[in-house]
Amino acid sequence: MLSEKMNDALNNQANRELYSAYLYLSMSYYFESIHMLGFAHWMRLQAGEELVHTMKMLDYVAEKGGRAKMLAVEAPKLSWDSPRQAFQHVWDHERAVTGLIRALVKVAEEESDAKTTEFLQWYVKEQVEEEESSDSVLNRVKSAGEDKAALAAADRLLSERAFKFPRGFEIFPGTSR
Ligand code: FEO
Repeated sequence: MLSEKMNDALNNQANRELYSAYLYLSMSYYFESIHMLGFAHWMRLQAGEELVHTMKMLDYVAEKGGRAKMLAVEAPKLSWDSPRQAFQHVWDHERAVTGLIRALVKVAEEESDAKTTEFLQWYVKEQVEEEESSDSVLNRVKSAGEDKAALAAADRLLSERAFKFPRGFEIFPGTSR
């Protein structure tokens, strides 16, 4: 059973994960509006990953006898000045999320909740990957600079991103996909 404090902290983090999905969807439609469809695709998949992060956390709350709550989701920005500014925003956002996950682990430790501490290790690892991938895309976009051909090449490269569900996670449990 989760403590009330742990239950609230997990619900709050799930809300931030859902905000992340909302933010990346907003970026995806921004890129679509400026005809950079590879960047739009990358962001759309990124939003999908954030939905998985959200639901995995809420599923855990429910499994542990807590109460998964849908809190109000903040509205994200609608547009950015350039691809570089948008990808800088992704990188800054992911670093902030890493800080939130670390704080959540601290709450679990303070609550002497070993199961939640262990559960959160998946997110700690995931954040390492999230920071690495956003850093690598930001560097690619930065090095393209104002060069339209280099930006178009980066756009094409990002269109190749594929989606993977994490092992053991089912978005519609009990159904095949
Ligand atoms: Fe779920 Fe990108 O942090």
